[in-house]
Amino acid sequence: MFSNSSINLPLLKTRAFNLRWASVPDGVIPLTAADPDFPCAPEIAEAICKFSKDRYFSYSPDEGYSFFKESVANYFYKKRGIAADANYIFPVDSAAFAIATVCKAFLQEGDEAIIFDPVDFLFKYNIESNQAKAIPFAIGIDPNQILDIEKLSDLITARTKMICLCNPLNPSGKVFSKVELEGIGNLAVKHGLIILSDEIWSDIVFSPHLFTSIASINKEIANQTVTVHGFSKSYGLAGLRIGLIMASNKAHYDLLLKASLHSSTVHGSNVLAQVAATAALNECDYWLTAFITHLEKVKRICVDHLNAIEGVNCFEPQGCYLAFPSIVGTGYSSEAFQQKLLVEAKVAVVPGLSKWFGKGSEGYIRISFATSEDIINDAFARIKKIMDTN
Ligand SMILES: Cc1ncc(COP(=O)(O)O)c(C=O)c1O
Repeated sequence: MFSNSSINLPLLKTRAFNLRWASVPDGVIPLTAADPDFPCAPEIAEAICKFSKDRYFSYSPDEGYSFFKESVANYFYKKRGIAADANYIFPVDSAAFAIATVCKAFLQEGDEAIIFDPVDFLFKYNIESNQAKAIPFAIGIDPNQILDIEKLSDLITARTKMICLCNPLNPSGKVFSKVELEGIGNLAVKHGLIILSDEIWSDIVFSPHLFTSIASINKEIANQTVTVHGFSKSYGLAGLRIGLIMASNKAHYDLLLKASLHSSTVHGSNVLAQVAATAALNECDYWLTAFITHLEKVKRICVDHLNAIEGVNCFEPQGCYLAFPSIVGTGYSSEAFQQKLLVEAKVAVVPGLSKWFGKGSEGYIRISFATSEDIINDAFARIKKIMDTN
């Protein structure tokens, strides 16, 4: 399922945008946006075909189909140990829109929301879109470094409304421990803060690390938490635009549904995407398990290749199919190194720039390794060649 022969490069060249195969010049290997090179599980395509055969694509409920909501509740109950209530879960048209909706529901002009640094740009973008202020909490790149809860506590002011948690953390691949999450959760309870827990990467966790949902810790913490999840990373459904929001109480749920504009039909989740996501949750565990086994192998290859390059240093990610090496020792800036790889090696990566991941990402590059062993080895053979000749 995850060999080179299962990757259809001619199709990816026409369909995979957002810095990937269809966006880069011919001959360039994109290790950029986190979107797998592999086709999705066949059960997902079959479920879409089956639904489509009836030729009815009527409006779905504002709050999503019950089959979707129940599958998600079951997932959170079985895999995350959360007594999830399907009534407080609704599908949205992406995890990105889920983040936008949570920020819109809970933030106002002048509010402050704490984000970890580095982290994916979506938190900052959506906090600022609501005229609120993103307060960075520098946590370093080493996934093993234990979170300093006192330092986090020092950032809380009378204006703080939210703590944004991305777990596992894109880009460093940190999987937060239960103790760290307890620390964050207790602060949120003490100060009455919303925890926005973006768990889109939570299925991609490497042994021996274990993922904990912050809402599973206790009822008080759950009551402060809004969980966001998605299907782009674990099941390769980015183009179907499907994500979800899970609240823990009715008051939060009502605020979130209102903020989503689903009830006014301005926004809403595509019916085929709900069908696809439900098939993913109900029928594709075997596929996800095989995908993670494959990713474990490619992660090893990728990290070893990176650490063999002079001036490059890479920690082992605990989760996410992302490597986030320091390139400071090469003497290049992140942007100069990214350009060098693109022009000389024909390998595209994402530079660690403040605008993508925060200030803490400067001096790093991000590599997505959701591809075949052959493609990763080809990319590193090219990189080795240009680094050896300098
Ligand atoms: C941490 C994180 N949150 C959210 C998203 C957005 O996911 P979606 O494709 O569902 O909008 C991404 C995608 O890169 C991500 O890495």
